[in-house]
Amino acid sequence: MSTNIQSPFKPYLMRIVDMRDETPDVRTLRLEFIEDDVRENFTWRPGQFAEYSVFGEGECVFTIANSPTRKGYIECSFRVMGKVTTALRRLCVGQLIGLRGPYGNSFPLENWKGCNLMFVGGGIGMAALRSPIQFALDNRNDYGEILILNGARTVADLVYKDEMREWESVPGVKVVRTVDPGGETPDWDGEVGLVPNVFERLNPKPDNAIVITCGPPIMIHFMLLTLDSLGFKRERIYTTLENKMKCGFGKCGRCNVGKVFVCKDGPVFTAAQLAELPREF
Ligand SMILES: Cc1cc2nc3c(=O)[nH]c(=O)nc-3n(C[C@H](O)[C@H](O)[C@H](O)COP(=O)(O)OP(=O)(O)OC[C@H]3O[C@@H](n4cnc5c(N)ncnc54)[C@H](O)[C@@H]3O)c2cc1C
Ligand code: FES
Repeated sequence: MSTNIQSPFKPYLMRIVDMRDETPDVRTLRLEFIEDDVRENFTWRPGQFAEYSVFGEGECVFTIANSPTRKGYIECSFRVMGKVTTALRRLCVGQLIGLRGPYGNSFPLENWKGCNLMFVGGGIGMAALRSPIQFALDNRNDYGEILILNGARTVADLVYKDEMREWESVPGVKVVRTVDPGGETPDWDGEVGLVPNVFERLNPKPDNAIVITCGPPIMIHFMLLTLDSLGFKRERIYTTLENKMKCGFGKCGRCNVGKVFVCKDGPVFTAAQLAELPREF
């Protein structure tokens, strides 16, 4: 349950309590609510997002990158893109930012109990997979085999390097990391190849599997083609969209595709739902 009972535009105050540079241009922040009751009661679901504000600069949207099973704080990972992310990058531990949310629908992890889960992420798209991955690992007995495929352009661009090592130590979890051809270093011990090609090489079986994929549009495009050719059902493939947004909860009309409001009806969609969206998507 969200506890935002005031103006829907009024942000909660949060303090940056930790930060970690994942890559030269991606940073992960850990944020804690200033108010005790909000810290206690704020909940969200894997896949939801929030609006983060840098005071005097503006707001931007990031997925909530930690699982609700790890409560009391919020984590986000962001790539420096423009005005607000540049300003956010300048902030230090101890400084305050605002947060509105949580917004949007979520990954239906309750419905996936007993299934094998295949998480396929590219670049900063891994941020959207981190919360459902943590959720599945924190409820390990509810799920079957877990595959985590993480791709990036170069070794330096791979996010969550330390966590990947933790994740692969969990029984029944396989972690595969890949970089684009030319992006490897002499000591690289992962795969070399584009994410959809590496996925295909792993010979994944569609039976009883759910695929959750997030990354640049070109990667998603080829992943969906690959999944189709491997016999994965579109209803069992999930992704999350990153249309431009302003309000975050269905009021401003910035994010819509036809009649669908990505902020409210999404950002999580199945491949079957995406196929129904107008061609402007
Ligand atoms: C639901 C959702 C979840 C997201 N999660 C994350 C996340 O976890 N981590 C992360 O780094 N980013 C995420 N994004 C993208 C992020 O919101 C934008 O990169 C950010 O708002 C840019 O803000 P800015 O003020 O720095 O850039 P601006 O100055 O507003 O823009 C800089 C450039 O980025 C482009 N841009 C801005 N927003 C988007 C967008 N949504 N999609 C594509 N291009 C855009 C602009 O057209 C411009 O060219 C998410 C977006 C959505 C909608
Ligand atoms: S962001 Fe305002 S309606 Fe979706």
